[in-house]
Amino acid sequence: MRSYIEETGFFAGHDPRDLLKTYGSPLYVYNEKIVRSNLRRLKGLITKYPYRTNYSMKANSNLALLRIAREEGLNCDAMSEGEIRLLLKAGFTPDRIFFVPNNVSEEELKFAVANGVMTSLDSIDQLERYGRIAPGSKCAVRLNPGVGAGHHKKVVTAGKNTKFAITDDQLDEMFRVADRYDLKIVGINQHIGSLFMDPEPFLSAVSNLIQMAKRFGKLDFIDFGGGYGVPYHKVSEDEKPFDFDSFEKKFEKLLDEAVEELGYVPLFKTEPGRFAFCEAGVLLGTVHAVKYNAGKKYAGTDIGMNILTRPTLYGSWHDIEVIHDGTVTTDDPQQITVTGNICESGDIIADSRTLPKIVTDDIVCVLDAGAYGYAMASNYNQRLRPAEVLITLDGGVKVIRRRDTYEDLFRNMDV
Ligand SMILES: Cc1ncc(COP(=O)(O)O)c(C=O)c1O
Repeated sequence: MRSYIEETGFFAGHDPRDLLKTYGSPLYVYNEKIVRSNLRRLKGLITKYPYRTNYSMKANSNLALLRIAREEGLNCDAMSEGEIRLLLKAGFTPDRIFFVPNNVSEEELKFAVANGVMTSLDSIDQLERYGRIAPGSKCAVRLNPGVGAGHHKKVVTAGKNTKFAITDDQLDEMFRVADRYDLKIVGINQHIGSLFMDPEPFLSAVSNLIQMAKRFGKLDFIDFGGGYGVPYHKVSEDEKPFDFDSFEKKFEKLLDEAVEELGYVPLFKTEPGRFAFCEAGVLLGTVHAVKYNAGKKYAGTDIGMNILTRPTLYGSWHDIEVIHDGTVTTDDPQQITVTGNICESGDIIADSRTLPKIVTDDIVCVLDAGAYGYAMASNYNQRLRPAEVLITLDGGVKVIRRRDTYEDLFRNMDV
């Protein structure tokens, strides 16, 4: 079995035991070298046409990591007022933020307008609300290209079964509402869902969106959304990474056709989230108990479903490496179910997985935890959310979020 953390020198020589002793267990650890290399990959996706990558910050909204994305020249999309506020704090100017909300209040829209942030409306109702707030202004609309894709039905965001976006048959009414408020629609966007390794659905959605673009006047930008996949089975099954090179060629060919069909060259955009930070983050936790039930071996750790929600929420797979006495072990493979410390039977990180022998006080290292990891963490069971640290380019360790304290936990209830 491969070891991702050894191959990449993930901890830059730091002993994971020392990291946990210093910063607490569990712990999110990011590697800046991998972060920057992924961000550069995304930024340079299309070179033939004017192109921008918007990092979709919901995947990981750590302030220090957002600052790195800014330094690397990416723009961002935001889903809420809180995300806009954080991006401004990270130093993004409003023209580098694209607000793509769903079902938001008048106050949130007003906040975006007051801050000069380009906003995309994803229903006729929301467009009407926006029109009342900012008549005569520029805006964008989120369209449903009729094709969805994703790792789980809960993250498919286009097609027939979704709450998102405006469909083809609603365009006439949408234009009437835009006219009523003298709104100038300068951009269109879509997002078909999260995590595809096969680019075909994305590419057919690109074609569909281009067809929809013809219904509009000359657009400033067309944004095709995110979703680029990450190989979550890279250690267990040697899964290959998303093939950006062949994707890029096919994507560029569609853009050639788009430019020809539209008769002008808009700014093209995509808005990936997961790919930027997923493989650049791992989650370390400690095994506190090993036990058996009906012949099944359980390794009980401090990584509860509140710390990493994806396995419980989507049944997602994360490869796990086991660290014994400070080094990765592959000894004595056996079936083990790795669980957390939360009061739910669904609190399972890996069910009946073939893993090296695990004993109490071993460390488990959950891979691909940098996206939708901390971002979805909670204090369920009154547990503290962990610290996040960054292994910097010079091999140092920087705390980029401190661990919760019990004061943090209770603050809002001290009323
Ligand atoms: C509107 C929008 N854009 C972009 C993304 C990023 O998707 P991913 O992290 O799969 O690249 C999402 C994720 O849900 C989204 O909702």
